[in-house]
Amino acid sequence: QEISTGLGEHLDEKTRLVWLESPTNPLLNLVDIRAAAEAAHAFGALVVVDNTFATPYLQQPLSLGADVVLHSTTKYLGGHSDVVGGFLATNDDGISERLAFLQKSLGAVPGPFDSWLVLRGVKTLAVRMEKHCENAIAIAAFLERETRVERVLYPGLPTHPGHEIAAAQMRNFGGMVSFLAGSEEEAVALVARTKIWKLAESLGGVESLIEQPARMTHASTADAPFAVPPSLVRLSVGIEAAHDLIDDLDVALAG
Ligand SMILES: Cc1ncc(COP(=O)(O)O)c(C=O)c1O
Repeated sequence: QEISTGLGEHLDEKTRLVWLESPTNPLLNLVDIRAAAEAAHAFGALVVVDNTFATPYLQQPLSLGADVVLHSTTKYLGGHSDVVGGFLATNDDGISERLAFLQKSLGAVPGPFDSWLVLRGVKTLAVRMEKHCENAIAIAAFLERETRVERVLYPGLPTHPGHEIAAAQMRNFGGMVSFLAGSEEEAVALVARTKIWKLAESLGGVESLIEQPARMTHASTADAPFAVPPSLVRLSVGIEAAHDLIDDLDVALAG
């Protein structure tokens, strides 16, 4: 919320591009995309939105004023953790032409089999996302009741500071849930104890994954002022039975 309302103060006529993500990885912060686009456009800057966490099923940034939408197709669009890829979407012919020129010239062209895997994944995107969201809210609610968990970060929880923005710009709240364990040591021990949740990076596949961002996905920013808390645990909630996922977390939390 702060990011979207205060954005204009950080921009000037030299700003060419505002690159944002909502919900963010791994803290699940929300950015009001429409407000951010208005602030950026007031300075003539383009707006790129990384929509990987939300997917086009849950959020459509072009209709909220973004100029370019970015997706890692490695994640929900492929959906089965068996392809690496990405794409950009725009509704501006000029930007599209410039991007097509760069793609052709730089050679970032996906292979036919990779493209086929993503196209096949997209056919089940809607049903997968519904199940990811249904499981994620059940797991977030379970974690919120847990005394061994310091704080749950999930935009679907009414207690989440970005809940209202999420409700306004998303169809549902997504399959990513993060939480703060009691300490770094507890987070490290916990992610090694689950059985159904596999300890791995990446996200967005049908299988549930668990990881500790400070030492894994976000280790490269460990010394930065925006480093993630070391007690943070990130969940990519899959499409298994919610009660199995909750039981597995319950046992792992018990130690
Ligand atoms: C939000 C987000 N955007 C982009 C990427 C980059 O994706 P890829 O691994 O397909 O290059 C990731 C990867 O973790 C991501 O989580």
